[in-house]
Amino acid sequence: MRHRGSRLDLSGRVALVTGASSGIGAAVARELASHGAAVGLAARRLDRLEALAGEIRAAGGRAMPVACDVSRDGDPERAAATVRDAFGPLSVVVANAGFGVSGRVDELSVQDFQRQYDTNLFGVVRTVRATLEDLKATRGVVAILGSVAGYFGAPAQAPYCSSKAAVRIMAQSLWGELRPLGVGVVLISPGYVESEIRRRGPDGRLAEDPVPPWLIMPSEQAARKIVRAIVRRRPELILTAHGRLGAWLARLCPTLLVRLLALPSSRRASRVQG
Ligand SMILES: NC(=O)c1ccc[n+]([C@@H]2O[C@H](COP(=O)([O-])OP(=O)(O)OC[C@H]3O[C@@H](n4cnc5c(N)ncnc54)[C@H](OP(=O)(O)O)[C@@H]3O)[C@@H](O)[C@H]2O)c1
Repeated sequence: MRHRGSRLDLSGRVALVTGASSGIGAAVARELASHGAAVGLAARRLDRLEALAGEIRAAGGRAMPVACDVSRDGDPERAAATVRDAFGPLSVVVANAGFGVSGRVDELSVQDFQRQYDTNLFGVVRTVRATLEDLKATRGVVAILGSVAGYFGAPAQAPYCSSKAAVRIMAQSLWGELRPLGVGVVLISPGYVESEIRRRGPDGRLAEDPVPPWLIMPSEQAARKIVRAIVRRRPELILTAHGRLGAWLARLCPTLLVRLLALPSSRRASRVQG
């Protein structure tokens, strides 16, 4: 009998990771598999998922690629059903799929905000709803990817920051709601972690990460910490020292960070005006 709050033994468990085709999701999937979990790999780019599944199987693990767009009603249900049919009921769900819409509010349309929320926020809701009965039955854990950007706003980042702020509060609400049912909810709030999220341009091509390398946590290191937080059913994990500093400053003096982040753009604006 597993008690509420007890550690989750991953060996022989079944996991589903959304956004498993790159970055944090792919690294978490590898890490879960290395702990003996069978892993459902969900995302839109099936070729990438097939390559990752092959890699996990070659290392002796179990993995299944499944095409899934979390912004579409029904896709997470279908992905969960495919993985359940293959491996059994899910004990671990990592609602990780996400991306960033950036731009000033007068450059963006309402649809830009909607597509941001449809993946980052409603994608999490769809994923949780599609897997909740399994998690209740297995007394499992859902990890939800927020961001330290959910703690403070930043100029030209309103869609992303507001979507992640909503994710943070949703994860807290679900933590209180699902804990009495034996389901752990872990909010993961990363600072800068190695992935494709900042490298992908509007045309889909990858460029260099604009963040200096010394500030970026390797994705394998992030994955080890995320999986440890899942095993321990921690309510929240803030990744990176700068991420923890940002979240702390946001609580202490909410507008300071926003003013600092606004400095480059106001300098740019005054140069244009002058
Ligand atoms: N890396 C960071 O510094 C950082 C910091 C804070 C928060 N995060 C959060 O961490 C999560 C993972 O991002 P990442 O940094 O690893 O970026 P990434 O390398 O760009 O990976 C994003 C993943 O999400 C998937 N995805 C995007 N839209 C999707 C959709 N509609 N349906 C299904 N899958 C979708 C992508 O796969 P397909 O394109 O194949 O569908 C990809 O596998 C995101 O929620 C992000 O906001 C990252």
